[in-house]
Amino acid sequence: MKKIVLSGIQPSGSLTLGNYVGAVRNWSLLQSDETYCYYCVADMHAITVRQDPVELRRRSFETAALLLAAGIDPNRSTLFIQSQVPQHAQLAWALCCNTYMGELSRMTQFKDKSASKSDENINAGLFTYPVLMAADILIYQSDYVPVGVDQKQHLELARDIAVRFNNAFGEVFKVPEPYIPRVGAKIMSLQNPEKKMSKSDPNPNGFVAIMDEPDVIMKKFKRAVTDSESLIAYREDKLGVSNLLTIYATIKEKSIDEAVKDFEGMGYGNLKVVVAEAVIEELSPIQTAYKQYLANPDYINEVLEKGRKQAETAAQKTLNAVYEKIGF
Ligand code: TRP
Repeated sequence: MKKIVLSGIQPSGSLTLGNYVGAVRNWSLLQSDETYCYYCVADMHAITVRQDPVELRRRSFETAALLLAAGIDPNRSTLFIQSQVPQHAQLAWALCCNTYMGELSRMTQFKDKSASKSDENINAGLFTYPVLMAADILIYQSDYVPVGVDQKQHLELARDIAVRFNNAFGEVFKVPEPYIPRVGAKIMSLQNPEKKMSKSDPNPNGFVAIMDEPDVIMKKFKRAVTDSESLIAYREDKLGVSNLLTIYATIKEKSIDEAVKDFEGMGYGNLKVVVAEAVIEELSPIQTAYKQYLANPDYINEVLEKGRKQAETAAQKTLNAVYEKIGF
């Protein structure tokens, strides 16, 4: 029996090196003879923030192209767009009715997001977002969910909901495990290494977009914030340097200790250049493939249609079991 893997990514304008190193790269590596993977473009999660419809549709499509470019193989995995598989929303409602307001109020992402939105658009979707995510996960009977550390709390909630539902109605859901990589789970801003790397960083030097040109990538790394000590070490009080080491170690598939060794005797200038070169080398084939995929939209549509069908078949099975249990 193959282990089921599921993950989702929101369609956003420019995915960053953080999304790639922290998530997408692992998605591709998790494809093996022992796993079957479902990967979805989470456009339903995206509308918890107001979106321009034309933009959203285009971004969902581009995100799918990027996932293909990053090595998601549609012959080994199911790649699909969340909103095209209505069972997610159907299950989400059943799960909503088995989730407590108190639990959702404790989600740190909700607290952060609602605190930073001074005004009107603290919508109910922002609040129930983790339940939809639980539905994404549970509907495929997932064993493993690769996520960044920032999504770990949501995954724990999904586990709690699964256990609660199974106890109340009888076994329906597999209880999923998080899959958080040892190195590289969280990539920080190059300008403020106390903050997560984010495409919404007002300072564009803080993040590297997956599609940034090589000279732009080099320039951003050269400007990366470090410290005044001039010692290449991985330490809590050296967040900037540690972040560079993390990026390098993940891409080169080395441990942090090995990465530190590679830079023995070097200065920060060298460190930045070598890390930038590693990033450029890693991203360049993805950038080429991405452009090729986008030049062939029929192919992407074909992949997504196949993914939709496969996802729907698997999802309907779980939904039938749930509906049976709850008396629908
Ligand atoms: N909420 C996740 C994020 O913003 C994306 C996501 C949606 C997801 N559904 C998922 C991640 C299911 C893992 C599993 O990053």
